[in-house]
Amino acid sequence: MIRIPIALLVNGATYEVDVEARRTLVDVIRDDCGLTGTHIGCEHGVCGACTILVDNQAVRSCLMFAVQAEGRDIRTVESLDAEGHLHALQEEFMRHHALQCGFCTPGFLMLALAALKVNPAMDESALRDVLSSNLCRCTGYETILQAVRAAQLRIGAVT
Ligand code: FES
Ligand code: FES
Repeated sequence: MIRIPIALLVNGATYEVDVEARRTLVDVIRDDCGLTGTHIGCEHGVCGACTILVDNQAVRSCLMFAVQAEGRDIRTVESLDAEGHLHALQEEFMRHHALQCGFCTPGFLMLALAALKVNPAMDESALRDVLSSNLCRCTGYETILQAVRAAQLRIGAVT
């Protein structure tokens, strides 16, 4: 089995890993980098549970090979509380009960973060449209929207 040495920049840290070309980014982030906050649901691009940021864009990490991510700025849910306190999005998810089992939550957080980075003033209708791309089996969509709106209003521009 041929392995390719790559360096992944995840949450500001460099991870030197040897990976087979077929391995997905989500598998490498979880299994090789040890960052298990990113979840795997469908493994074929439908559910959005694996959403992370790559160069500030929301990406379904089950649809990207790890070797494609070398040299890119990768951000996972673990980056949100990197400064020792929860991000406004995380606090508002808690406050609005926007999670039940929590399986979909990392994906929704990173999806919302990416959307608000692109357009901090996104209106509710546009935000609803963005959030509809991820699935929550506990059907907490309304509270997820409320939480993201609250975070948006609180900090203006989400960073
Ligand atoms: S696990 Fe990637 S979209 Fe479902
Ligand atoms: S909170 Fe359970 S899948 Fe969304």
